[in-house]
Amino acid sequence: MDSRFQLTRTQAEGLAAEFGTPLYVLDEASLRARIRRYQAAFTAVASRSQLTYASKANSTLALLAIVADEGVLIDCASQGELEAALRAGVPAHRCHLHGNNKSTQELEAAIEHGVHQIVVDNFQELEQLRILSRRPGRSPRGHQTEAQATEPGSTGKGEAPGRAAGEMPDLLLRLAPGVNPLTNAKISTGQEDTKFGFNIGDGSARRALQMALENQLPVKGIHCHVGSQLLDPEAQRGAGAALARFARQMHAEFGWTCEVLNAGGGLGIRYTEQSPMPIEEYCRLLVGAIQEELQGSSLDPILVQEPGRSLVAESGVTLYTVGNIKPTPGRTFVSVDGGLSDNPRPALYDARYEVLDFHDSEDRQTVTVAGKHCETDQLFDGISLSSAIKPGDLLQVLCTGAYNSSMASNYNRYPRPATALLRSSGDFLLVQRRETWDEMFARETLPPDLLK
Ligand code: LLP
Repeated sequence: MDSRFQLTRTQAEGLAAEFGTPLYVLDEASLRARIRRYQAAFTAVASRSQLTYASKANSTLALLAIVADEGVLIDCASQGELEAALRAGVPAHRCHLHGNNKSTQELEAAIEHGVHQIVVDNFQELEQLRILSRRPGRSPRGHQTEAQATEPGSTGKGEAPGRAAGEMPDLLLRLAPGVNPLTNAKISTGQEDTKFGFNIGDGSARRALQMALENQLPVKGIHCHVGSQLLDPEAQRGAGAALARFARQMHAEFGWTCEVLNAGGGLGIRYTEQSPMPIEEYCRLLVGAIQEELQGSSLDPILVQEPGRSLVAESGVTLYTVGNIKPTPGRTFVSVDGGLSDNPRPALYDARYEVLDFHDSEDRQTVTVAGKHCETDQLFDGISLSSAIKPGDLLQVLCTGAYNSSMASNYNRYPRPATALLRSSGDFLLVQRRETWDEMFARETLPPDLLK
């Protein structure tokens, strides 16, 4: 069954009339169902497990609130994403902070808010954290013994361990396991020469742990994320196994107990013809690879996954209105009222999407759906649309719930689109209105002498 959300014609017409286009639409019911399916698949193979949502995929506040309501923690890759989670009502102790180049101010803010974990990327950050952990009034907590260790989280609605704001959060070391994922090079992160994390192969990861332990930093576990939109799970399996092996070695060498093993996100989805692995099979493979490496050791870390795309992409569509239709000697362009500014993925990653019209006719034509930006901006190529398509018709693009609104821009001074949420009750609610001109220009000042 196709689990990808799509609008009916009546819904699309109602939404376009009420909120205009382009419009992002999110579906609460399929979002909740997808999260529950992932949680069930993960707990079925790992009783001590926790899902965390990579909020870079979509940090619309209403979406964050729904995800958190399902018991999922929130992974924030910046202070802005942490601010979004807090504004969505997610307590800081259910968030963790990521980033490959965090500023001291970002680290300080995360600590002051009382985040659950900070995922440490590099030696400079370790040093920043060492200094911050010694600020007056902030007692370094160090690494706890197994008996003191925090209780496992769960993929249910259990609370993440709380701590007083200002107390040092748990730290995870982000590791580069040296695996090469088969995906677009722009979204590969696990290979040897990645900018992310401590390299295991060249000994950096070991040195980082040693340094953290010597400085009594509360390092609780390890993390990796090898890439995104992965359709072959080999990279994640390899990385999970490499992390587990590292945990064993560090236990043997330093007596350090890895309490948290976070294998990142990355599971791909079906945009057009792809066939990603079902979540259940993926969880089984990933957890199996980790457990196999840990077998015979006393280590039993909480296993964490932090998917973004695979949790939210399928629950979103973008609705556009067709403008002009231009046959050329080579192809027919169907131009829509959005483009690069609301979906940069085709331009950045050659991403392809399924585009649907709302005509019933069998008669089809193959067209290029173009955006309205001053760029080649061929949004979607080789799209089969009804031959009856005409200016003013609506088109919906499936699977735009991830990395669309979060990557939107104002290029060509287009206001960013609104977002409507289809509540589980069946009602639509505007959860983000369209950007206004005043908002677009609010940050700018004209030098008075140039003001005519
Ligand atoms: N964890 C970390 C540390 C990450 O860097 C990412 C994604 C994720 C989790 C979630 O990965 P996912 O499950 O969504 O694949 N803008 C690109 C995707 C960049 C992903 C960056 N990191 C795109 O539109 O395809």
